[in-house]
Amino acid sequence: MNPKSIVKGKIHYVGVNDRTKHLFEAIWPIPYGVSYNSYLIDDEVVALVDTVDVCYFEVYLRKIRSVIGERPIQYLIINHMEPDHSGSIRLIKEHYPNITIVGNKQTFGMIEGFYGVHGNCMQVVDGDCLDLGYHKLRFYLTPMVHWPETMMTFDHTDGVLFSGDAFGCFGTVDGGFMDSCINTDHYWGEMTRYYSNIVGKYGTPVQKALNKLNSLLTIEVLCSTHGPVWTDDNVCKVIEVYDRLSRYDADEGVVIAYGSMYGNTEQMAEAIAAELSAQGIRNIVMHNLSKSHQSYVISDIFKYKGLIVGSPTYNTQLFPAVEELLSKISGRDVKGRYFGYFGSFAWAGTAVKHLTEFAEKSKFEVVSAPVDMKCGMSDAVYEQCEALGAAMAARLKQDRNG
Ligand SMILES: Cc1cc2nc3c(=O)[nH]c(=O)nc-3n(C[C@H](O)[C@H](O)[C@H](O)COP(=O)(O)O)c2cc1C
Ligand SMILES: [Fe+2]
Ligand SMILES: [Fe+2]
Repeated sequence: MNPKSIVKGKIHYVGVNDRTKHLFEAIWPIPYGVSYNSYLIDDEVVALVDTVDVCYFEVYLRKIRSVIGERPIQYLIINHMEPDHSGSIRLIKEHYPNITIVGNKQTFGMIEGFYGVHGNCMQVVDGDCLDLGYHKLRFYLTPMVHWPETMMTFDHTDGVLFSGDAFGCFGTVDGGFMDSCINTDHYWGEMTRYYSNIVGKYGTPVQKALNKLNSLLTIEVLCSTHGPVWTDDNVCKVIEVYDRLSRYDADEGVVIAYGSMYGNTEQMAEAIAAELSAQGIRNIVMHNLSKSHQSYVISDIFKYKGLIVGSPTYNTQLFPAVEELLSKISGRDVKGRYFGYFGSFAWAGTAVKHLTEFAEKSKFEVVSAPVDMKCGMSDAVYEQCEALGAAMAARLKQDRNG
């Protein structure tokens, strides 16, 4: 038995840290790394909740053995099949051939498909129970958070929720894994970036899951598959973060995201930002899309209510990085933003036309007429940029005290 791994009761943390990978899902930068969390319940019968990325299997197995020694594992509960968690299923099955895999109707086809594993399984439906002795588990199906098979496992004995990716964040767990044992400051920003990029499209299923959990459970400990284990006041705080993000609720502030090759479009962004600041808007985040990774831009768009996008015309299209951002915004079904836009060109401008099409499709509330600029900055264009900034500030300020 390893006392350092205890979460609560007979529940142990057996997750691993990935400090090697540069890009999570081969897309998202992870400067603080990422943890793949798995939990072992060392009860009358032993249950393992989720696994870890297969690259870490040796470390993982050692952690499991440091808790249970040579005892067998009776159940492997699979809350989520994305390979960062399911990757070790085949090897676990090899080491524990009599293990029973617990999943729902959607789970087993994927286990067979990814790993060729079949055999002992227990198919659960929403609300089913599993009694381990001291810990009494119940399963809640939460489809599309963010895959179809996602479910959560709740330990009614100690109020511990094994939530899968929900409530997760980027960042390894350094030294300790309990929030009470580590400085958690940097996880909050990484939680927004994780949610908005990975789960962001699935606001409605997340809301459904949250409503279900709220009405059924008193959660004391949140054990997600990424980042620290959350306890005490942080449980509510984390749930609130996920609740707000999944409703696309946002703070007062503006993201100005633009492309610019030679600095002309950027000058428009500067003029708009200066006016926003002069009008008393304090949260202004500017992203030059050739430099900022899209994941940070998306994260800020989830955070702030105002969005202003600018692009030069590029071979009759939008600047490629702008195009990419718009597609990411649409792909996440972002709702309820105040929107402004601007463009530039040298001979036949189409950027503003393309941005208008996006504005219409997105159903965002457009705060003012777009600004279109031929070649470089002029006094007239500068004033139009100021007007756009002022209109955005005015719209945001209408929401104050209300
Ligand atoms: C590769 C390339 C393609 C361009 N395509 C167009 C175009 O199709 N129509 C147009 O009016 N201007 C086009 N332009 C001109 C830019 O839109 C214009 O110079 C603009 O001011 C660039 O803004 P920036 O200084 O912010 O990069 C193109 C420029 C480049 C470098
Ligand atoms: Fe996932
Ligand atoms: Fe994950």
